[in-house]
Amino acid sequence: MTSVATSISLITRAEAERRPAGTSGASTGSTCGTDLAKGPWEFDAAEALRGMPAYGPGASVADIAPASTPRQGQLPKEYRDAPEAELHERIRAAKSTLGDRVVVLGHFYQRDEVVEHADFVGDSFQLANAALTRPDAEAIVFCGVHFMAETADILSRDDQAVILPNLAAGCSMADMADIDSVEACWAQLEELFGTEPDEDGRVPVIPVTYMNSSAALKGFCGERGGIVCTSSNAATVLEWAFERAQRVLFFPDQHLGRNTAKAMGVPLTQMPMWSPRKPWGGTDPQTLTDARVILWHGFCSVHKRFTVAQVEKARAEYPGVRVIVHPECPMEVVDAADEYGSTDYIRKAIAAAAEPTAFAIGTEINLVNRLAAEYPQHTIFCLDPVICPCSTMYRIHPGYLAWVLEGLVEGEVRNRIEVPAEVAGTARVALERMLAARP
Ligand code: 13P
Ligand code: SF4
Repeated sequence: MTSVATSISLITRAEAERRPAGTSGASTGSTCGTDLAKGPWEFDAAEALRGMPAYGPGASVADIAPASTPRQGQLPKEYRDAPEAELHERIRAAKSTLGDRVVVLGHFYQRDEVVEHADFVGDSFQLANAALTRPDAEAIVFCGVHFMAETADILSRDDQAVILPNLAAGCSMADMADIDSVEACWAQLEELFGTEPDEDGRVPVIPVTYMNSSAALKGFCGERGGIVCTSSNAATVLEWAFERAQRVLFFPDQHLGRNTAKAMGVPLTQMPMWSPRKPWGGTDPQTLTDARVILWHGFCSVHKRFTVAQVEKARAEYPGVRVIVHPECPMEVVDAADEYGSTDYIRKAIAAAAEPTAFAIGTEINLVNRLAAEYPQHTIFCLDPVICPCSTMYRIHPGYLAWVLEGLVEGEVRNRIEVPAEVAGTARVALERMLAARP
């Protein structure tokens, strides 16, 4: 199976050969942005010039990066210019020198060239927990995105350094809910509903944040009786919240919130959307009063690409195909699929299939391709025919991994992610509530 990086380079080369001399262009359709074939440092340099952070090409290219997005300084030239084989050799040598002093974690969506160096590969929460199984490691190198590294920092010991190889590897969905906008929303909801519990002891509203959010938002939930959820336990967490509150404010992903609440029987009319910076979030006091779940206007640009037409096409081309999508996909796509679930659910469903099966998967391309390579007895393909990785995750390249690992060998901790103690304390409360919540 060709890696995503190799496929993009091949498409880019073919497009360049087709294009008239002296012109450059966007994708013709096989990949969502041929600029992805460039080293991520080219975007770091462009950002430095423009003075504006950006997410780079890929599904999230049109998403706005907040001004507070961390900037990655320019990667030293020796790492930018090194051939890939040399970078792999240097990563292996640094890991062997460091031994148990370092643990490298790789998210399912990470590119293959990085995943091959990971000691653990998994979803965001599994990886945060995997770090706990290595208490002797002085450094946890998290090849994922910013909120994942923050969670690992919250859950790890204070003297363990969590490192994000490229600081610009954010998550555009997580960035769609910033603490100031959520606090402004909360103030309006408190003004509308008051804070008095009803006769059953349920408070007017409780905040629930998806794991894909900043530590500040997890802390916000911890402080206000709220909780964190992942894509695997969102229904359990919503049950927990409904036992304690009349309504839920769910952020940042509208789709996970809507798909989960709908499956629990909440009518769509009781799930208004809150758009930050609009009066009453773009809705009105009566609708908010009648609501069961107030959905934040956030979404994942990678999962938003999946469509009902793609599901229909897969069914027409592969009779009997099993369509499994991630709950970050739009509701219509989840409804059209056979099943939906987290990255770990998708992986386990494929692993458990006894007979050769066709699977059409609605999630990030790196994971789908890896599953296809791992289970050759099945036909596994991505619902979206366009190669479009999570471009923020894609910013982690072997060059950055080599740079942070060689820094550790030299005694220098580069790109440490540290959540301030006061935020970490309340964020941990919200995470612990999630761990204690039972179906
Ligand atoms: P997981 O929590 O399944 O790792 O998913 C993270 C993510 O970013 C999905 O888009
Ligand atoms: Fe964020 Fe979407 Fe990338 Fe997941 S796939 S890290 S939600 S941008």
